[in-house]
Amino acid sequence: MGARAPDTEEESHLPRHVAIIMDGNGRWAEKRRLPRIEGHLAGLERARTTIRYLNHRYHVKYLTLFGFSTENWSRPSQEVNGILRVFQEIIDQEALAFHKLGIRLRHLGRREELPPALQESIKKATRLTSDNTGMTFNLAFNYGGRTEILDAVRRIVTEKIPPQKIDEELFASYLYTAGTHDVDLLIRTGGELRTSNFLTWQSVYSEYYFTDVFWPDFDEKEIDKALLAYRRRQRRFGGL
Ligand code: IPE
Ligand code: IPE
Ligand code: MG
Repeated sequence: MGARAPDTEEESHLPRHVAIIMDGNGRWAEKRRLPRIEGHLAGLERARTTIRYLNHRYHVKYLTLFGFSTENWSRPSQEVNGILRVFQEIIDQEALAFHKLGIRLRHLGRREELPPALQESIKKATRLTSDNTGMTFNLAFNYGGRTEILDAVRRIVTEKIPPQKIDEELFASYLYTAGTHDVDLLIRTGGELRTSNFLTWQSVYSEYYFTDVFWPDFDEKEIDKALLAYRRRQRRFGGL
């Protein structure tokens, strides 16, 4: 079994799973002579509005936002601590609002390596929204694509799964994204043309959309542009 082609024409025009590498917060702030943390705050505000817009305008079923990578620990501790703090504040503030919108929050990444208070906030918000059937919002935080694959392998080995049972479907069910559809549209803001260890397994047949716009400036008009570009793509999944 490989990546699946969509069933209907309608399905092929709107992405079910949108994933975004929210890059460019630091440069957005530096351009304005502001401290980098102001860029992260503006980026979080942008995330808040993007979640709502993709939910109500495009009825996206799964949205994955890259908030912090396993490589981002290498930044100066002041910046790392600032990012951890603002994310915790926003999760605490937003959990109830997501719940009211029927959004289900999931966390992708190694939660156990995060500060206990942040772990607790994520756990609370995940629990509160776990039965919601609207959009699934995956927050990739302390996420790495390779780490995710290694974590899956470790669990498969620990559970002594017989090798002949390990196919693509089974493997995917051991990833953090278990139960989520593959990524249809992968957006990266901020001008870099790379994926920086994001959704390695899930993006093999994604459509990529790169833009120079810094994440805090990625407004509804920019989202519309990305979605229009997606609609114009022809996805073949190896077929004709
Ligand atoms: C993305 O913005 C947010 C994180 C990686 C946490 P950056 O902080 O990487 O912003 P730039 O790339 O330095 O502008
Ligand atoms: C990718 O951005 C990670 C997130 C957006 C959370 P980076 O700024 O860390 O990526 P690189 O270092 O430019 O590849
Ligand atoms: Mg960056």
